Amino acid sequence: MKNFSLYIVTDPHYFENKLGASGPAYERRSRTDQKCIAETGAIIDAGFHKIAADKETNVVVLPGDLVYRAEKASHLGFIEKLRALQNQGKKIYVLTARHDYCNDGNTPCGFVGEEEIPAEGTRRDELRGLYYDFGFKQAISEHLPTLSYVVQLTDGIRLLVLNCDGDSKDFKGFYDDQMAWALEQIRLAHESGNYIFATTHYPLLPGSPVMRLIGDAKLTDWEKRANELADAGLDLIFTGHMHMQSLTQYTTQNGNTITDVCTGSFVGCPCAYRKVTFSDTDIHIESFTIEDFDWDKQGKTAAEYFTWRFDRMITDIIDAMAYDFAFFTRLFGGPEKNKKLKIPVTLVGKILQKLTLGGVGRLFWFRVDPSIKDRLLKDTAVEFVRNIFVGNEPYVPGTPMYAAVDTLLRRLHPVLRIAEKKLGAKDPMFADLRGFVLSLIGDENQLDYEATLPFKSYQKQGGDPA
Ligand SMILES: [Fe+2]
Ligand SMILES: [Fe+2]
Repeated sequence: MKNFSLYIVTDPHYFENKLGASGPAYERRSRTDQKCIAETGAIIDAGFHKIAADKETNVVVLPGDLVYRAEKASHLGFIEKLRALQNQGKKIYVLTARHDYCNDGNTPCGFVGEEEIPAEGTRRDELRGLYYDFGFKQAISEHLPTLSYVVQLTDGIRLLVLNCDGDSKDFKGFYDDQMAWALEQIRLAHESGNYIFATTHYPLLPGSPVMRLIGDAKLTDWEKRANELADAGLDLIFTGHMHMQSLTQYTTQNGNTITDVCTGSFVGCPCAYRKVTFSDTDIHIESFTIEDFDWDKQGKTAAEYFTWRFDRMITDIIDAMAYDFAFFTRLFGGPEKNKKLKIPVTLVGKILQKLTLGGVGRLFWFRVDPSIKDRLLKDTAVEFVRNIFVGNEPYVPGTPMYAAVDTLLRRLHPVLRIAEKKLGAKDPMFADLRGFVLSLIGDENQLDYEATLPFKSYQKQGGDPA
């Protein structure tokens, strides 16, 4: 097989700025969002420009959340950008997701002055028509009720686009009839000599141990569906939604492994996208981030700007603990609530503003490596959260940070042991809290950006299966 490659671009969340994207209402909304909003047009233009310049790769797959919050104007603006990319020779296949149509948690508006002004939204049944030229038209099979389809990408390789909107409420996943159709598509692909891989919006597998606990971090019935898909011979699925870079594998009792490659948002730290190259023997995955974009970045590089946007979401909360209790309580349910918490919350907030890692070490009688001792605990906590989303979490055994966190958790063991007994009975993951926390700060595999997976060819050569 001749090498074949494609790009994965997910969660571009395009927002049409002419709806209004400035003023206090915009600031309020933007500060609680880890991704960019007004900047999305400029970031998408920069990323698409790079992709268009790669003349050896002519396919782009987008696993959902194409626009910010279902605005019709955002869809129309985004489709213009897709069409421009298509006119430069790219074949584009989109999956739509819950941000692309109006539903309970997704109400379109613009931001003008102090006001959120309602904007025209998009119904789910409009999406196939809007994006007809970007996948649905090329489909060799469709599951119409769920907006799922299959396309032949190249000789010997098919893509299964599996929509997981579910009921647009608690259930995100595949209905039984949709799943039966998907399994049949996998069988038909293999029978006709095609390798087939999939894309869906929500992660099929939790991308980090902590994501097992978060309902919105993976498909509702992920274990069941992972077993069914892997045992049907599907070994690769590209996902999004979590705005995080992760590569996760799951092996069924029958010994079949499926790899979930979750790609970060195109417009949220670290603003990543991937290139995937299929050869006769393997599938190589590499990642890129947006290097620059046309925007007033206040003197920051693009990477610094994205990090600042992400961190602000968390540092605002910690700063409010110390200096603005009213704002803090509004974030968690209203100004009247929990007034008695003002003193302890403010105290913890003020300690967090000043406490360094060296200070933590002194409190618990251990030495922190000089290279990290002056770092604020606050900044370190924010970085730990950010690293889960950025991927390739760096604090593995042998690093000063790993040593400091490990020692702290050992010092806290008498307290942690009580929690381990209680929580461990509910979920074995918590039976070892030290191991759990350490698994969050360091990923020894380091495969979240670059990985090589085996490619299993189904093409018949001389009448014999390869
Ligand atoms: Fe998203
Ligand atoms: Fe999403």
